[in-house]
Amino acid sequence: MYRNLLLGLLMGIAGQAEAQKNPFDTRIDVRMGQRVFRAECGRCHGRDAKGNDETGAPDLTTGSFSAASTEAKLFEVVRDGIPGTTMIGIGWAPDETIWQVVAYIDSLNLNPDDVDLPGSADQGQKLYNGKGNCTSCHMLGGSGGRLGPDLSTVGNRRDPDELKEDLLEPNETVLPRWWTMRITRADGSVTEGLRMNEDTFTLRIMDKEENLWHFSKSQIRSSKRTETSTMPSASETLTMSEVDDLVAYLFSLRKES
Ligand code: HEC
Ligand code: HEC
Repeated sequence: MYRNLLLGLLMGIAGQAEAQKNPFDTRIDVRMGQRVFRAECGRCHGRDAKGNDETGAPDLTTGSFSAASTEAKLFEVVRDGIPGTTMIGIGWAPDETIWQVVAYIDSLNLNPDDVDLPGSADQGQKLYNGKGNCTSCHMLGGSGGRLGPDLSTVGNRRDPDELKEDLLEPNETVLPRWWTMRITRADGSVTEGLRMNEDTFTLRIMDKEENLWHFSKSQIRSSKRTETSTMPSASETLTMSEVDDLVAYLFSLRKES
């Protein structure tokens, strides 16, 4: 009888542990969760969950929570909010959606030391500064080029899967900031580069050497916009294991904020 009681207890505990584990934590769930977060929570916590002093909504990327110490608690907070505060939950949403938001929040709190990645961060750093030629376009820790986004905090913005995608498929999502323009002057000469700014009459672009060019629109024959990335896909320039090394390196830059 004791034995049954004990077994029941153990099973109870196991059952509980099971219930606490997020059943919706694939990469797609994280994406869905991010979408819900931006729609429902971003106005208080900020689009990237970094918190907002004006609304008093805390940074959710610091790796520690005061009201939500376990995954199950996090689920409850997201569902029910925190009574007596402006923090309101999304209790109207199905459990699946709530878990997806939890998965997204978890993804922001990964600690690089706890994540087992196939690549070597040390090798990645060598590739980054050497063969990969990444410094020619990217700023990191205050040095490098300005033809691509600053990567100093990329480990906080992107998880390892996303970083891999950034490297292999740069054209997947390219913000307008990184679109290029090809300008043909009245005399037929051509200049190509990133569009820095544009108004009704003028246009400024930065070429590959980071020279700035200023055009008055009345003087150009034509301009053509390209919405693809200037970044070469790593699938053409590097091996898959080198890509893994770069991912490990970039992810190791993740900082606690
Ligand atoms: C109207 C503003 C507002 C909205 C919308 C909002 N929050 Fe909050 N949230 C807050 C505030 C303020 C707190 C801090 C409450 C307190 O004083 O404990 C908080 C606290 C939290 C915490 C607890 C943090 C900790 O340290 O334990 C989590 C988790 C959280 N929010 C997630 C979310 C999610 C997910 C959403 C969207 C479904 C959301 N919040 C929507 C304002 C908001
Ligand atoms: C010719 C310039 C160029 C080179 C070389 C280059 N990149 Fe990029 N990179 C860009 C541009 C432009 C973007 C932004 C557009 C996009 O998403 O592709 C970008 C985007 C990225 C992103 C996504 C950043 C974010 O904030 O989401 C990562 C990560 C990245 N590059 C890493 C690398 C690494 C690692 C290397 C070296 C192997 C490299 N890049 C080489 C131009 C370059």
